[in-house]
Amino acid sequence: MKNNFKKFLFSLYKPVKFLTFVMITSMIISQILDLIKQYIIKGIIDLPTIENFQISDLYNVIFVLLIVIIFELIFFYISNITRTISILKKQTPYIAEKLFTHLSKKSYSFFTDNYTGKISTAINQVTDEVTELNTQITTKFISLLTSMISSLVVLYTIDLNIFLTASILYTGIIVSRLIYFSKKYLPYIEKSEKYNREYNGILNDAILNFTSLRLYNAIKNFSKNLKSKKEEANFYRNKASKKEFTFGAIANICYIIVFAILINYSINLYINNMMTLGSFIFFLNAMISLKSQTTNFTWSYIHIGEIIVKMKNSYKLLYDGDNLYDENKPNITIDSGNLEFKNISFKYNKNYVFENFNLSIKNKQKIGIIGVSGSGKTTLVNLIFKFYSPQKGCILIDNKNIEDYSTSSLYNNLTYVPQETILLHSSIYDNIKIAKPNATDEEIYNAAKKAELHNFIESLDDKYNTIVGERGIKLSGGQRQRIALARIFLRDSKIVIFDEATSSLDNNTEFKIQKNIHKYFNNQTIICIAHRLSTLKDMDNILVIEKGKIVDFGTPDYIIPKYDNKKFMVEDTCEVF
Ligand SMILES: Nc1ncnc2c1ncn2[C@@H]1O[C@H](COP(=O)(O)OP(=O)(O)OP(=O)(O)O)[C@@H](O)[C@H]1O
Ligand SMILES: [Mg+2]
Repeated sequence: MKNNFKKFLFSLYKPVKFLTFVMITSMIISQILDLIKQYIIKGIIDLPTIENFQISDLYNVIFVLLIVIIFELIFFYISNITRTISILKKQTPYIAEKLFTHLSKKSYSFFTDNYTGKISTAINQVTDEVTELNTQITTKFISLLTSMISSLVVLYTIDLNIFLTASILYTGIIVSRLIYFSKKYLPYIEKSEKYNREYNGILNDAILNFTSLRLYNAIKNFSKNLKSKKEEANFYRNKASKKEFTFGAIANICYIIVFAILINYSINLYINNMMTLGSFIFFLNAMISLKSQTTNFTWSYIHIGEIIVKMKNSYKLLYDGDNLYDENKPNITIDSGNLEFKNISFKYNKNYVFENFNLSIKNKQKIGIIGVSGSGKTTLVNLIFKFYSPQKGCILIDNKNIEDYSTSSLYNNLTYVPQETILLHSSIYDNIKIAKPNATDEEIYNAAKKAELHNFIESLDDKYNTIVGERGIKLSGGQRQRIALARIFLRDSKIVIFDEATSSLDNNTEFKIQKNIHKYFNNQTIICIAHRLSTLKDMDNILVIEKGKIVDFGTPDYIIPKYDNKKFMVEDTCEVF
């Protein structure tokens, strides 16, 4: 995990390796020039005390000083400009794309088991924290480290004893602080971040369900829940801050004692003419600068530690686990569309939904599936689409075990209209086009016509450019379903599966769309799950599923009259078709 995280971290710099090198080296050069600048200033102060001093010498030194200042500024500017270019233009867009593409490899359960907000926070956190990491490394960490070394070099040139004492003091403070913080401070930050991510997940979930919360007057309760999650996150951050306060107090006392001793020592040197005025001023300046430099340096180190903790947590969520789709598997080609469930046993958690389930559907057959709620109809589709893998048995398409083939190639060959239509917060046009990114306008209009949607779209102010709102909220349930149905008419696949795909439509519209489905998909294998039996009257055969078992089977003429108005017993409840 540790090594993988390191690899991951370096991979984030892939498109900006050269820019990062320029960014860091120019900052180091700028800091070295700063040291030279200080040294020149010390020389200027001591210049009048030198024998044969001439005013032209002063001009010469000041000229050199100006050149150094100009170059220092140039390198500082180069470092900052490369940082901005590398982050904004290249790195964060690259990371956003990399992480989002990575999501396509995650299993279905990754999305069902995690809050949407938690996943999006993790992705955002990596992009935001990389920006912060670059800023910290260049403007704080490197610049403070080099200026600390500069200050110590200045002390070395003044007096060896002062240099040694100051080095021991500051190194001691830095090292003990870093150890103390890694052990005592960062674990609290880690906990606090965990609660913060949960907080974000709950917040996103609540906003998505805001209308339901309002309808059931549940907002107050939810706010309490959010408040307590935030309090938990802050509790650990507070604990971390207390640790920092204790350490800071002890470090400051040490600093004051050593500073007092060194001042006394250097005043003696100055009085006895063993130290110049320039050196004495530089000693004071270096000691005072070192104090703030060490504090800021350790803070920067801690900040970088926090950034790494946050990124590591995000990495863990996004990359951990062995639930990645194996895209190295060969691509499946489906020529006929024969589908077979062979001895399938499957459970989500404890109870089996299917046990030794067998079903064979020949190509071009149109099969309807009915059954009470919870009998396992959608689960069958979940298994065909490899959202979950069966614990036993296999699913064959054209005699090929789907587990042996890449998931993306499987999706190129199957079409699915799910039970619940959720649309992107985009235009109707874009929402239909998802099914075929290179579709022409003509193809999209035709698909909409086949889904009985075109006239409705044309009646809207913005027509195909109408924005449907988040999850398609601005459309009716039936309109959303028709967008999902329009998508299938853009696809060219051998197997098409409908899961309650026309349940929100009125009888007349459903009839017209069903007619189009049968007209345009007469060469395909069709599986159509429905509660409304009339939906299935043009199927070749209908299966009746109960508690994961096929309990009846036959043509629509046999099944529909038999099960129309029939009550199915499921545990203690009755359901009517
Ligand atoms: N992701 C999941 N995790 C755990 N259990 C699940 C999950 N999805 C479904 N189940 C359970 O599996 C069983 C079968 O569910 P499934 O969705 O297949 O039913 P269904 O026949 O499609 O019902 P409906 O007609 O209501 O759509 C149910 O008991 C359900 O609670
Ligand atoms: Mg279902």
